[in-house]
Amino acid sequence: MRRPFIAGNWKMHKAPVEADALAESLKRALSEMTAADIAVAPTFLAIPAVVGRLRHSNIGVASQNVAVEAQGAFTGEISAEMLKAAGVQYAIVGHSERRQLFGDTDAVVSKKVQACFRAGLSAILCVGETLPEREAGQVEDVVARQLSAGLADLSADQVSTVTIAYEPVWAIGTGKVATPTQANDVHAYIRSWLGRYPSFVARNVRIQYGGSVKGSNAAGLLSQPEIDGALVGGAALSVEDFTAIVKAAT
Ligand code: PGA
Repeated sequence: MRRPFIAGNWKMHKAPVEADALAESLKRALSEMTAADIAVAPTFLAIPAVVGRLRHSNIGVASQNVAVEAQGAFTGEISAEMLKAAGVQYAIVGHSERRQLFGDTDAVVSKKVQACFRAGLSAILCVGETLPEREAGQVEDVVARQLSAGLADLSADQVSTVTIAYEPVWAIGTGKVATPTQANDVHAYIRSWLGRYPSFVARNVRIQYGGSVKGSNAAGLLSQPEIDGALVGGAALSVEDFTAIVKAAT
């Protein structure tokens, strides 16, 4: 019913020439895999090369962040409008690295989601708890707070087009993947939280899992009923691993 969606977050890896080469390899490897939506998120600098390389392919391009504002005196920022004009389709918003290292508060994340809608980018909204929050039994509280801030002021129709990425912070880049059941439980909670909107919203919203997804653990996660895809970090830099993950989704 919901089309699987696999996105690769390349983080601060791959200068333009290398990114172009990786995009070319992925384009070949994934050309037959049309049963899932696929996207890659290169650095801003590599976006033009990757957009060009993937133009006639089944792989979309995402940004890893967007500015709040459309234009102006905001040194170092890149707006959703500029990304859209450069051929970007999706934007990752509220990634835990942005939240923890770059001051993206819930209020900022909300404005960035608004910026995506203003510019016509599809938002991938990341939520997830830290290890101390999990140990304190606060997973649902944290995720609910991030969802209500991130989705604030959106219509039900708009919310239904957002992708939510559940990324427990303790599983990101640590090799410590959530078990399929742990992940599915939180996904089920997110879907029940979406029950505050008309029922088509919870039915349509895709919820990706992220945090140490690899070729070897993808099938277990993606076979869970509430897991609609994956947001992949480290393994997205490997053609073999990323291909195995997309395969597991389709
Ligand atoms: P990881 O990162 O797959 O390297 O754990 C996931 C993410 O940060 O989106």
